Amino acid sequence: MSSLIVNQPLLPLSPPVPDGRLRSSRTGALAARLREAIEKRTARVGVIGLGYVGLPLVGLFAGKGFPVLGFDVDATKVKRLEAGQSYIGHIASERVAALRDGGHFEATFDFSRLSEADAILICVPTPLGLHREPDLSAVIATGRSIGQSLRPGQLVVLESTTYPGTTRDVLRPELEAGGLTAGRDFFLAYSPEREDPGNPDYSARNIPKVVGGWDEASAELARLLYEAAVPRVVPVTSCEVAEACKILENTYRAVNIALVNELKLVFERMGIDVWEVIDAAKTKPFGFQAFYPGPGLGGHCIPIDPFYLTWAARQYGLNTRFIELAGEINTAMPHHVVDRVVAALNDRGQSIKGSRVLVLGVAYKPNVDDCRESPAFEIIELLEGRAAIVSYNDPHIPILPPRRNYAIRMESTPLTPDVLREQDCVLIATDHDAYDYQHILEHVALLVDARGATRRYGLQCDAKVVMA
Ligand SMILES: NC(=O)c1ccc[n+]([C@@H]2O[C@H](COP(=O)([O-])OP(=O)(O)OC[C@H]3O[C@@H](n4cnc5c(N)ncnc54)[C@H](O)[C@@H]3O)[C@@H](O)[C@H]2O)c1
Repeated sequence: MSSLIVNQPLLPLSPPVPDGRLRSSRTGALAARLREAIEKRTARVGVIGLGYVGLPLVGLFAGKGFPVLGFDVDATKVKRLEAGQSYIGHIASERVAALRDGGHFEATFDFSRLSEADAILICVPTPLGLHREPDLSAVIATGRSIGQSLRPGQLVVLESTTYPGTTRDVLRPELEAGGLTAGRDFFLAYSPEREDPGNPDYSARNIPKVVGGWDEASAELARLLYEAAVPRVVPVTSCEVAEACKILENTYRAVNIALVNELKLVFERMGIDVWEVIDAAKTKPFGFQAFYPGPGLGGHCIPIDPFYLTWAARQYGLNTRFIELAGEINTAMPHHVVDRVVAALNDRGQSIKGSRVLVLGVAYKPNVDDCRESPAFEIIELLEGRAAIVSYNDPHIPILPPRRNYAIRMESTPLTPDVLREQDCVLIATDHDAYDYQHILEHVALLVDARGATRRYGLQCDAKVVMA
């Protein structure tokens, strides 16, 4: 799909909630019908985009007894789901099969069936374009598909992360193109997803959901729908507040991770262990939250979403200097890690050129099978650019999937003692729990640790270990 970058000027933020008293009795009747269907759990929930966000959402609503119809443009995913198979590591196939067999879930790529849903939740990707502009092509295409079959009384909720104003200025016009009007004929809301894949403590089931509606009735219906599925709904006064809330959460992480990455470089030069500093600082019971340094940012959220705000702020004549600075520091981290590998080899009288380097972990964070935006790709490319012979191991990613900006093709190398002994350097890029670090350390000549993993196992003082 070609990248469709939104570049029309944004409107000033408008008063979000038209006066409920002006609503016609017809609108009231449509709202009452949907409210009743939600309360009885007969409302059919359509989820568009069955990925890391959409699939858990399917499980959430289907698990609460709602009939769920999932849509995706990827026919392979749809067929697998229809066969009761999951394609996401931390979502069990048994769970998908149970929802399918119980008659609560059906997946399809036939978008003409969108009119069957009473509430439609949009969870499609929102990546960046080549020049770090918002690429809303999937949101626009989805809005267009819904618009073609939109019927009175449907509720549409955007969940994809985006800049404030998207629901109003980008999605709504696509939905209204067929002649229906938001707040009068159909209902419209924004509710950001806060999924944290692989987190054993928090999932869609127990994470509070922020909800902002286009108008009063939309806000109420969206609140009721989510209240039926999650323990806490946090209503806010507009779609824009809900959109901004998600951007704030992710910008907060990007900026704080950049801060510890910068401090890591400073403390490293001073001979101070940044992980020990953070462990000490986090004993403060208030006013401090621990963030950890690493080889750079990854995933579909933190490296991307703040730049949605940067782009939107520019439309208002403002620069987001914190975000730009954080981006600069975080994107420099793979270079720092590679420099540490080069220096560590040099200290042992070896050149990076021709050295064998095995990268451990290519997922963007521990214990997940998602390598979108993972800094491991940049690290591998930088190492190869210096003529190292690079391989990788990741128990969650047996083959490197094609990535937009990288031409690397590799398969995961098994971590046998022989393979480990053959390496001049093993680099921990992602610290999966599945790794036996003691075993790895026994067989390697040099272990460069960009995640502080060896510290957690008390191995950081071994002469073979270099922190990066
Ligand atoms: N992954 C996360 O942890 C996470 C957390 C919070 C928010 N988000 C946000 O949620 C949104 C979705 O992210 P994700 O990680 O689930 O992405 P994903 O790539 O895992 O899933 C998106 C799905 O949408 C499908 N798709 C693409 N274009 C489509 C279209 N036009 N119509 C229908 N389906 C389409 C893709 O085939 C894919 O299955 C993004 O905006 C992301 O920023 C992601």
